[in-house]
Amino acid sequence: MKIRSLIQFSLFGLSTIIFKRRKPILATIILTDKCNLTCKHCSVNNITGKMYAYQSIHQEMSDLYNQGIRILFFCGGETFLWEDNGKTIKNLVQEAKSIGFLIVNVVTNGTFPLDMPEADLILLSLDGTPENHNLIRGNTYDTILNNIDHATSDNICLYMAINQLNKHDIQSVSDVAKNTKNIRAVSFNFHTPYPNTENLMLSPTEKESCCTTIGNLMKQGYPIFNLKTAFKYIINNSFKTPCYQCIVVEDGKQYTCGRCIEIEGLCEKCGYFFAAEYALVFDGNIAVIIDMLKTYLRYI
Ligand SMILES: C[S@@+](CC[C@H](N)C(=O)[O-])C[C@H]1O[C@@H](n2cnc3c(N)ncnc32)[C@H](O)[C@@H]1O
Ligand code: SF4
Ligand code: SF4
Repeated sequence: MKIRSLIQFSLFGLSTIIFKRRKPILATIILTDKCNLTCKHCSVNNITGKMYAYQSIHQEMSDLYNQGIRILFFCGGETFLWEDNGKTIKNLVQEAKSIGFLIVNVVTNGTFPLDMPEADLILLSLDGTPENHNLIRGNTYDTILNNIDHATSDNICLYMAINQLNKHDIQSVSDVAKNTKNIRAVSFNFHTPYPNTENLMLSPTEKESCCTTIGNLMKQGYPIFNLKTAFKYIINNSFKTPCYQCIVVEDGKQYTCGRCIEIEGLCEKCGYFFAAEYALVFDGNIAVIIDMLKTYLRYI
């Protein structure tokens, strides 16, 4: 991360904490809900099949920048499926950078060739050992590993959603992150129990056991892009929700924290580490703030 970005984020953080402001800094734009996969744990794919128009996404980017957003994620559905009149996700990332966003990340299932050096991070979903990943995501593991091997840049961060099917696979995914070319780190989330996926959720005891495993791997030097200081709040869902510094935009509509905010009772069972980490940072938790500065400087 550049020093200029670090200073901007630190000033934003300080003023948010001191004045208890609710201004957002991080936004996720949903490009489409179309997806080539139908993963067992996912509730947001192929509902409308819409690809949002380039013009409206561009307008959303400008509006978000003018609102003060500086960290931008593109998400889906599958981001690499998005296209409009010859424009692709690569064009959107380049334009986001030229508008002035300081960090631009793309979330993908990794089943398409990876040529995205412009992104700060490509968050690429890998959900366990080859067997369990394929059980959750269909037969895609080998394709994904091949795409990682042939990627044109080394800005890949694996993204694993830990659930009942893959809760013993943290070491396996961490080994891939540590030993594979082009991968910078791995970032974990716990399953968030959207309706009809409740059976995949972990209990607090199971989450604690996973966090112990992740913490031990961190101690051994594995490249893990999560904040250890936030674990105890994530295990018991004792962080404040929603996180007002994060927003999601889909088809012109803005949601505080996530689209999931509209599902009653879900925030109390939230498994998204970012929601806890950002909520704790902007609530003024000193240990988490220091942890975030050190971790972001290492991986972005
Ligand atoms: C919705 S997907 C969209 C991007 C892309 N299609 C992918 O799979 O990475 C974004 C991320 O959310 C994760 N995810 C989906 N459903 C989830 C749930 N119920 N709880 C936690 N993470 C979930 C996915 O595993 C993926 O890493
Ligand atoms: S690839 Fe992503 S969007 Fe598609 S079904 Fe899986 S988690 Fe959902
Ligand atoms: S806190 Fe609520 S709105 Fe935010 S990500 Fe978690 S479930 Fe979604």
